[in-house]
Amino acid sequence: MPPMIDRRALIAAIPAATLLSACNGHAQEGGPTAPVPPLKMAAPFAVGTCVSTDSIDDPPLRDLILSNFSQLTAEWQMKMETILKDDGTFAFEKPDAIVDFAGQNSLRVHAHTLIWYAQNPVAFQRIDGKGSAFAAAYRNYIAAVAGRYRGRVVSWDVVNEPVSDEGGTLRDCLWSRNLGMMDYMLSAFHLAREADDQAVLFINDYWLEKRPEKRRAFMHLVEQLLKAGAPIGGIGSQTHLDIGVDPASIKPAIHDLASFGLPIHISEMDISTRFGARNFSSAQDRSAQQARLVHEAVDAFMGLPAHQRFAITMWGVRDSDSWLANPPNPVDLDRPLLFDAEGRPKQAASAFIAALSGR
Ligand code: G3I
Repeated sequence: MPPMIDRRALIAAIPAATLLSACNGHAQEGGPTAPVPPLKMAAPFAVGTCVSTDSIDDPPLRDLILSNFSQLTAEWQMKMETILKDDGTFAFEKPDAIVDFAGQNSLRVHAHTLIWYAQNPVAFQRIDGKGSAFAAAYRNYIAAVAGRYRGRVVSWDVVNEPVSDEGGTLRDCLWSRNLGMMDYMLSAFHLAREADDQAVLFINDYWLEKRPEKRRAFMHLVEQLLKAGAPIGGIGSQTHLDIGVDPASIKPAIHDLASFGLPIHISEMDISTRFGARNFSSAQDRSAQQARLVHEAVDAFMGLPAHQRFAITMWGVRDSDSWLANPPNPVDLDRPLLFDAEGRPKQAASAFIAALSGR
């Protein structure tokens, strides 16, 4: 739960000109604006970021994390690629370090992710096609991993990115080929619930804003899984956007996804200033558009009933920490997050705060 403070007083103390300038692009290229209050103090819901053991061991970054965020997602170290060794044994050192850090600092952990089409670990490839052996290893993995963190994480992304980018089909993957398209998902949710009777179990996907056909296919899948008895407890919209995305596409997406009445997690938000940049002539314009998109997403999220506002998670803290920050052309750096490479809040951070107070 966010700390009990007078959020409104905190936000009201910020000059309106500062907040408004953030949305109107008066600040420099995504550059620092006037100080903003700690995000987690200003928001009436959990504000998260993705982390790794490196980031929590980096003092300046750790300080930014502890100041601004109340929830953590392991960027990759709670996935099969870290936990499941080639010989089928489990390595929990890295995920344990992240969960321990969160516990020591009273932060929530959103665990990410049990089953993902993009993970094809050797241990499962070796039993690909071996029916009962594959199913047993699948059951064992989910039971071991979700069971280990029972009571220490608030939620899991149980199934990640099940819908194809075009939106017409469900992704064919190692799991669907061995266990059946719907059955790999149904059993993942049931197995996760058996292992952890407390965690909120999410299904999570991306481009649900900019591709309505993908959103329709995703929602149809959620409906089918719920009807089949899957204990889905929340819906994650990753919200990896870029400045070419129409801000008007965000509210309808949040509204549609919230129609199931389940908690919504904006689970991996970043706004690329490299992709979609052709329509913006200056860095300042790109930054202002990024701020508009952040404002739109937070405003849409604030429009949800409180019980459906699970969390907003940024996919990183500083621009330099982002998975997008490895440009083919070092000149054309992507600046997708709320804080610049020096850890200073950007226009996008001020827009995040402004949306919390309806400004
Ligand atoms: O840090 C190690 C380095 O020490 C090692 O030398 C190197 C080579 O093995 O690996 C480095 O770790 C890599 C890590 O990114 C940091 O760069 C991992 O191999 C690599 O798998 C990992 O990629 C992550 C990717 O998911 C796959 O797990 C990205 O950080 C992460 O941002 C990305 O996140 C995904 C979400 O889970 C799902 N939604 C899309 C999102 C972006 O792709």
